[in-house]
Amino acid sequence: MPGVHERGHVQPVALDEVAQGRAGEIGRPRHVGVGSRFVHGSPPWGDQVPRPAVTSSRRGAHVVDLCRAQNGHNSRRDSPRSSASRRKPLVPGHGPDWPGSCWSASPRGQYENYQPNAILAGAVPRTVRLRAPDWGFDEAELRAAFGPRTKAVFLCHPNNPTGKVYNAEELALLAELCQRWDVVLVVDSIYEHIHYLGPGGYLPPARVPGLEDRTITVNALSKTYAVTGWRVGWTVAPAPLTTAIRKVHDFLTIAAPAPMQAAGVAAMALPDAYYTGLATRYRERRDLLCEALERIGFALRRPDGSYYVLCDSAPLDAARDGTAFAKRLITEAGVSCVPAVSFWRPEHADEGRSMVRFAFPKRLETLHAAVERLEAFARV
Ligand SMILES: Cc1ncc(COP(=O)(O)O)c(C=O)c1O
Repeated sequence: MPGVHERGHVQPVALDEVAQGRAGEIGRPRHVGVGSRFVHGSPPWGDQVPRPAVTSSRRGAHVVDLCRAQNGHNSRRDSPRSSASRRKPLVPGHGPDWPGSCWSASPRGQYENYQPNAILAGAVPRTVRLRAPDWGFDEAELRAAFGPRTKAVFLCHPNNPTGKVYNAEELALLAELCQRWDVVLVVDSIYEHIHYLGPGGYLPPARVPGLEDRTITVNALSKTYAVTGWRVGWTVAPAPLTTAIRKVHDFLTIAAPAPMQAAGVAAMALPDAYYTGLATRYRERRDLLCEALERIGFALRRPDGSYYVLCDSAPLDAARDGTAFAKRLITEAGVSCVPAVSFWRPEHADEGRSMVRFAFPKRLETLHAAVERLEAFARV
């Protein structure tokens, strides 16, 4: 595609290399996967999220029903509900793609899809370093990343892979800068209901003063309702932005599959107890895995949100090479994790080279088995 190469290349994902190179090991009986959320349709504690009977495949009907359900869902919960977004139509489908020629700023060390998408859309990504241990950004560095050509900022909140949940002060700074430079904030809030900060602990940026009319909130069914791979999502945005998003979405995707939209309508009718139970069960898994990883010697900060834990493997790996270390864990321990260097752009790869990411949307017995194997591996 003309222009893409000048703006920076789209890097291969390190996980692919590990998965392809070790495909023989993955899936064998002795292998325990705590690297990623492999595609399946039930939560890791076994019971099923209610699935509706599909009564209609009329595309229009489901789009409307899902929009209504989503609006109802938002008005019951902590989700975006600004005066601007409440009235706006929603767009089933997924993707924070940003069309046009622009600059986009993005914290680095977060979900790797935003920057390739920005590049493919003709933007020039600028990154801001997220800093351990709490994975916040430096104010001066963030200020310097904004400029007259900045059009959009991408924020993963709660963050994959760091587990960071941005606080009021951090969001206020983003609000100040977005207003000053007339920039749109694109928030991937897919882990909105998976956080460990208690009621009110997750602040939706669309409700932060100054961001109400300049935030595009992106969300999907996959994480909240344990249906990874369904690819049904939505955006909530002020009217002019929604109009543009709908056009792009229609040409790229047309519509999300109707049966899955119908399932979304049913899922969004689940009672509040579903969401509190979700956070409680993930917290139990987070504490089990993080406690064990700390004991084994990994350097980590327990995530405040999402179901991942980003670890520095350097204390266990003199070579400080997360990709090689992840391969060793597969072959020598029978446990998979994700080499996290793919969350950094190639020019900043050193910052993430020794990092690996474990995922805990798993049954408790799977996590216990992984811990036993990791402990045995570390003893050798
Ligand atoms: C931050 C983030 N956004 C988006 C997605 C993709 O979500 P979906 O499965 O709904 O396409 C993922 C999946 O891992 C994710 O971690």
